[in-house]
Amino acid sequence: MTDALARAESLIDLTPDYPEPGVLFRDVSPLLADGDAVRAVSEALIEPFRGGFDIVGGIEARGFLLAGYVAAIAGVGILPIRKAGKLPKPAAAVSYALEYGSATIEAPGVLRPGERVLLLDDVLATGGTLAAAQRLVRDLGAEVAGSAVVLELVDLGGRAHAGDDVHALFAARE
Ligand code: PRP
Ligand code: HPA
Repeated sequence: MTDALARAESLIDLTPDYPEPGVLFRDVSPLLADGDAVRAVSEALIEPFRGGFDIVGGIEARGFLLAGYVAAIAGVGILPIRKAGKLPKPAAAVSYALEYGSATIEAPGVLRPGERVLLLDDVLATGGTLAAAQRLVRDLGAEVAGSAVVLELVDLGGRAHAGDDVHALFAARE
């Protein structure tokens, strides 16, 4: 790992018992707020996919911020993948299970058939969100070029849902 990436990782903030008791929450806000860190992370997220994607898909909400930065450095556009009920004309919706209940994500109808979408998010936890985003892209007739996250919470087994080929820059247990 480069010094810049190691420094970026050290900027991820930890909060015990948020949003509920027993959860150690990782917040990438300080990393995003640091110019060197957010640049290093954005470049590393797309490194394995260079030339292999046409657009980035940012998953609400922190994935939007990564997608904006990555899109600018890669010279591509952005697909916003939104929580249900936020888009005037959703072209597709996918529901997925949460620990308690379920959630739905939606996307606008802006992809061309076969367009290659690189999905981006801050954290891979159970993998439900990323797996749903992958399905959403395919339902829209486009192709998943890859999936990249800043941090993987390895003990939550997200790869079982989102695929073994998820590109994760950092890994944490618990
Ligand atoms: C977090 C995170 C990922 C998702 C990962 O988002 O940003 O999108 O959870 O969890 P999973 O792998 O178990 O699906 P959150 O649902 O907290 O939404 P937010 O970004 O809008 O706060
Ligand atoms: N941070 C951000 N998103 C998350 C986390 C976390 O620690 N756990 C599950 N989703």
